Amino acid sequence: MKVILAKTAGFCFGVQRAVDTVYEQIQKERRPIYTYGPIIHNEEVVRDLKEKGVTVLHELSELSEYEKGVMIIRSHGVSEAELRAIEEAGYEVVNATCPFVSKIHRAVQEHAAKGCHIVIIGNANHPEVEGIRGWCLDAPTDVIETTEEAEGFTSKEQKLCIVSQTTFRHTKFQELVEIIQKKGYDSIVLNTICNATEERQLEAEEIASGVDAMIVIGGKGSSNTQKLYEICRNHCPNAYYIQTKNDLGVELLKDFETIGITAGASTPKNIIEEVQNYVRNEF
Ligand code: F3S
Repeated sequence: MKVILAKTAGFCFGVQRAVDTVYEQIQKERRPIYTYGPIIHNEEVVRDLKEKGVTVLHELSELSEYEKGVMIIRSHGVSEAELRAIEEAGYEVVNATCPFVSKIHRAVQEHAAKGCHIVIIGNANHPEVEGIRGWCLDAPTDVIETTEEAEGFTSKEQKLCIVSQTTFRHTKFQELVEIIQKKGYDSIVLNTICNATEERQLEAEEIASGVDAMIVIGGKGSSNTQKLYEICRNHCPNAYYIQTKNDLGVELLKDFETIGITAGASTPKNIIEEVQNYVRNEF
């Protein structure tokens, strides 16, 4: 059996940086350590951090219930109001927001101040998008994810600033932007899709097109892994979405000759290696 492992599988730069930040804090910090939301969408990593004493807080209302300490902001980032509230509650903020996400925060803040209507192409419920929204509260803001939403979009402003959730699909972004641009607004389009995502998606597509089966590894709640899986499924009928090697049944892959493996941005290297070794040795 031939196994092809995607070079871009696993942690991107921003996630690696955020996870490293937490482990560095564990080494040097004597005060309690918290993360605002799970540091990544990976249960294994979050469990390991919990065992090392890191507590995950989910809401601002929880801030008063805990002993003050260090609050690490994950790579998705948070809104300006959340950042201030955490500091005002007496926590020291260690900001591990991915610099590419911080750049979007600055862009929407700047264009909102210039009177633009902010359009975020992405999923309104994703924490990254919620965070971005929180940096342009004074401006009209819309989150657009579907063709229907793009078609129905209208604005009282003449100027638009269109940005994207970093993990959004490139082709869909272009399609939605074209629909909005046809409406005749004066729009500034900032393609803020992260290269890490695009490269991972393109490589996954390329591998999935040439193999009998494709394995996509990642946490269930990870939107970028879900998208990666969709892409693979469109190019390979035997695509499997797994969290660890334990999700791979012994019977599952035995009839295939070539197997591709990729993983979402929040999948640790050791899990990818385990799956790779398992596939190479067991089938
Ligand atoms: Fe940052 Fe891109 Fe990763 S935006 S968190 S490097 S997917």
